[in-house]
Amino acid sequence: MPICDIVLSRISLNEKLMTKHKENGFIMAKIAPSILAADFANLERDIHDLERNGADWVHVDIMDGIFVPNISIGIPVVQALRPVTDLPLDVHLMIDRPIRYVEEFVKAGADWLTIHVEADQPQNILDTLDKIRELGCKAAISLKPRTPAEVAIPYLEKCDMILVMTVEPGFGGQKFMADMMPKIRQLREWLDDVNPDCVIEVDGGVDAGNCELCKENGAEVLVAGSAYFKATDRAAFVKTIQA
Ligand code: DX5
Ligand code: ZN
Repeated sequence: MPICDIVLSRISLNEKLMTKHKENGFIMAKIAPSILAADFANLERDIHDLERNGADWVHVDIMDGIFVPNISIGIPVVQALRPVTDLPLDVHLMIDRPIRYVEEFVKAGADWLTIHVEADQPQNILDTLDKIRELGCKAAISLKPRTPAEVAIPYLEKCDMILVMTVEPGFGGQKFMADMMPKIRQLREWLDDVNPDCVIEVDGGVDAGNCELCKENGAEVLVAGSAYFKATDRAAFVKTIQA
């Protein structure tokens, strides 16, 4: 990219962020608490609690024990949650070859369905994104920390969201990787050119101390598991993320 274009796209990012500044100077964002850190024996209670606390979306982590070294929950749980809340269900599939299951997750009630670019061959990832959209669901890709931003290029125009992982997927409660910020900024710049409506979500180790950094770099949706569920005042935590 010529230097003048890089400068222009930086200006456009800054202008875009300016429009999101509130009077208090903070940048606005949505918060999607991850129910991986909820009490699985009381999911309905915890979801109603996050509604009362003003959360925007519910982030649902699906792990298959193959793509990541952990197993969490699956289609029946998404189906059970659907009638419990009107909040968008933001379903993060950490599963191998997700094309096998996207239809079932959409039917179960997902509003947003995120697949990992590392989970299948590129053509299958493209086909999976098409399939998700054809089913009337918002489609997203996710990049693990060691996956460079360039890997997202073939998918930029087929996505409604890009999820940048700031921990290795598989477990909650890990340390936030601040060195992922240039990746977010790079993706935001490319998206501004080809798909400006596509949003960037950040997932992993997000807390009150690093949320502003994520937003400054172009993230508009912040996932928080441990930091939300461990907060002594969850409503105040939600407001801090949303600023
Ligand atoms: C990790 C999951 C995250 C996790 C975030 O693989 O994708 O959504 O629940 O949890 P915290 O906020 O505790 O890092
Ligand atoms: Zn997640």
